[in-house]
Amino acid sequence: MVEACGMCHKSEKQGKQLDIWKASAHSKAFEALKSDKANTIAKEKGLKVPAAEAPECLKCHVSGHNADASLIGKKFKVEDGVQCETCHGAGADYKDMKIMKNKEEAVKNGLIVNTEKEKFCTGCHNTESPTFTEFKYEEQWAKIKHSIPAK
Ligand code: HEC
Ligand code: HEC
Ligand code: HEC
Ligand code: HEC
Repeated sequence: MVEACGMCHKSEKQGKQLDIWKASAHSKAFEALKSDKANTIAKEKGLKVPAAEAPECLKCHVSGHNADASLIGKKFKVEDGVQCETCHGAGADYKDMKIMKNKEEAVKNGLIVNTEKEKFCTGCHNTESPTFTEFKYEEQWAKIKHSIPAK
């Protein structure tokens, strides 16, 4: 759940990750599956359920390859779309301050730090996406970048 991360990751000093995410397309990725366009795509693909219920669509619009699809509906609020934990791994075991402060401990407890960013993005931004046109890494990263400011 995004709020659980946003609690700490929203101040100016931390880098306003919550606001940046909210303003990004990722926060609306589930919403996008409810559009007529989405349902038309789903129909054309022969899916039997609306796009917003189809695992074939949810796998990139909500859960993603870093998070197991079985978390949907349990720990994952689908409405949050592509959320913090989609990319950083389920946080139940690392989100305590004591652990978070120590990167090594956090990683041991499931935090995913993606060093190969471009490769990570193209795990979803690829031709398997029915609306895919192209992915320009530098430009796209600039749009969602949410670094912790240098101290
Ligand atoms: C109790 C407060 C708290 C919560 C809740 C929290 N974090 Fe953190 N997080 C921190 C602090 C403090 C740091 C270290 C910041 C620093 O190095 O200045 C951090 C660091 C991080 C980093 C950077 C690791 C690195 O050094 O590269 C990531 C990524 C991260 N958090 C993601 C998350 C996600 C995702 C969630 C929700 C599942 C979450 N955090 C919940 C306090 C929190
Ligand atoms: C491989 C990952 C992936 C899968 C699977 C996927 N999507 Fe997407 N979807 C994306 C990405 C990434 C975008 C953003 C731009 C792009 O690459 O198309 C997107 C964007 C969209 C958009 C918004 C396009 C616009 O008008 O701006 C719609 C609608 C959509 N997807 C519908 C679907 C439907 C319906 C399914 C299931 C049949 C689906 N997607 C499956 C990754 C995926
Ligand atoms: C689309 C995937 C994606 C989403 C969604 C996402 N992040 Fe990240 N995040 C990344 C990547 C990639 C990096 C850079 C490499 C890394 O540290 O993992 C990063 C870096 C960070 C950092 C460390 C920045 C630094 O300077 O070291 C923090 C903190 C963080 N994210 C927190 C969050 C929080 C909180 C949310 C939700 C509000 C969130 N992220 C949503 C992919 C994502
Ligand atoms: C779990 C799958 C997933 C991952 C991983 C992912 N994205 Fe996305 N991304 C999406 C989906 C789905 C959309 C479409 C949301 C919508 O249009 O509502 C999207 C949309 C975007 C958009 C806005 C539309 C556009 O194409 O300009 C940007 C920018 C973006 N992503 C950047 C990134 C970057 C940079 C990374 C890697 C750090 C990344 N994404 C990783 C699924 C993902």
